[in-house]
Amino acid sequence: MTLADELASIDAEARASLAGAADAPAVEVLRHELLGRSGRLTVLLRRLGSVPAAERPALGRLANEVRRSVETSIDDRLETLRHDDLEARLAAEAIDMSAPGRPVPVGHLHPVQTLMRDLREIFHAYGFEVYEGPEVETDEYNFELLNIPPDHPSRDLWDTLFVAEPGSVEGGTPEAARDGTILRTHTSPVQMRAMRALDAPIRIVTPGRCFRYEAVDASHGFEFFQVEGLVVDRDTSLADLKGLLEEVARALYGRDVRTRFRPGYYPFTEPSVAFDIGCLVCGGEGCPACKRTGWMTILGAGMVHPVVLRNGGFDPAEFQGYAFGMGPDRMTMLRHAIGDIRLFFSADLRFVSQFAEGR
Ligand code: DAH
Repeated sequence: MTLADELASIDAEARASLAGAADAPAVEVLRHELLGRSGRLTVLLRRLGSVPAAERPALGRLANEVRRSVETSIDDRLETLRHDDLEARLAAEAIDMSAPGRPVPVGHLHPVQTLMRDLREIFHAYGFEVYEGPEVETDEYNFELLNIPPDHPSRDLWDTLFVAEPGSVEGGTPEAARDGTILRTHTSPVQMRAMRALDAPIRIVTPGRCFRYEAVDASHGFEFFQVEGLVVDRDTSLADLKGLLEEVARALYGRDVRTRFRPGYYPFTEPSVAFDIGCLVCGGEGCPACKRTGWMTILGAGMVHPVVLRNGGFDPAEFQGYAFGMGPDRMTMLRHAIGDIRLFFSADLRFVSQFAEGR
């Protein structure tokens, strides 16, 4: 084989083996075999010196061409491999934009919270603002300033949980803790906080959590919600209270709901009333749900007692007020015919997920 033939066959073989190189390292091995110090082409080029002088220029040119051709083949192969590699990666990482999404579980409001939101919206329409107070209260705000002195028998209405620093109360007895800190038994103390903080006219609702030392049963929880309402103004009356509560009852339970006021007793209102709606279960005939009376009590209310007004910083000769306190837990039970208040805090998803419409 002449040197020229050998050069041509190196070029052809180089192309063939490069085409079969699977990755960049394989190409580098071939580069070394062809162009390295003892590579086939390098060794061949060294032999050019022994060629007759007349043939040398032509052969030299051919040798350079083959060298450039092999180098180009190597670069081309590397470029092709890089490209294929990228394609493969892109294919592996491809996202199918048309694939349907995985469902994300979405929660919803607890039915009592749904009712409390409804109440906020209804009262908002009547010009009431939301005003909140602390869950840990003082005896003074929860009772005394609301016209409930320390040994007044009406305290029996509010079985109280006392908060005591460990070791700070002799024997840890309720009697010893009585002057101290308690968990609020109702949202009424927020009335006093609002009166002391705001100027008349006051129109607020105070949603919040309350606590009582109750024997827990189907209709009593030791933890529950209340929504308190308070209006203080120069010219307001029991008629305003009655009109407002009737409209609220219609907004909550429908236009046809029947309502009534009946006398009640609370130390912080005078006069005091209970507000009833016609039984939602039997429509008034009498059934177990309404204890055969045809009526269900949804809240207590009344005109703010002069002592309470004065404690709040308002002169009863100039200002009047009305107040009401409702139990959203009980109202939710009436709304959905739920028979046991304990379900609300049971954390049983089978129970709460029945009320997903409140989302
Ligand atoms: N605080 C009372 C309770 O927990 C409810 C109540 C009654 C609130 C009459 C009032 C009211 O504001 O006027 O039983």
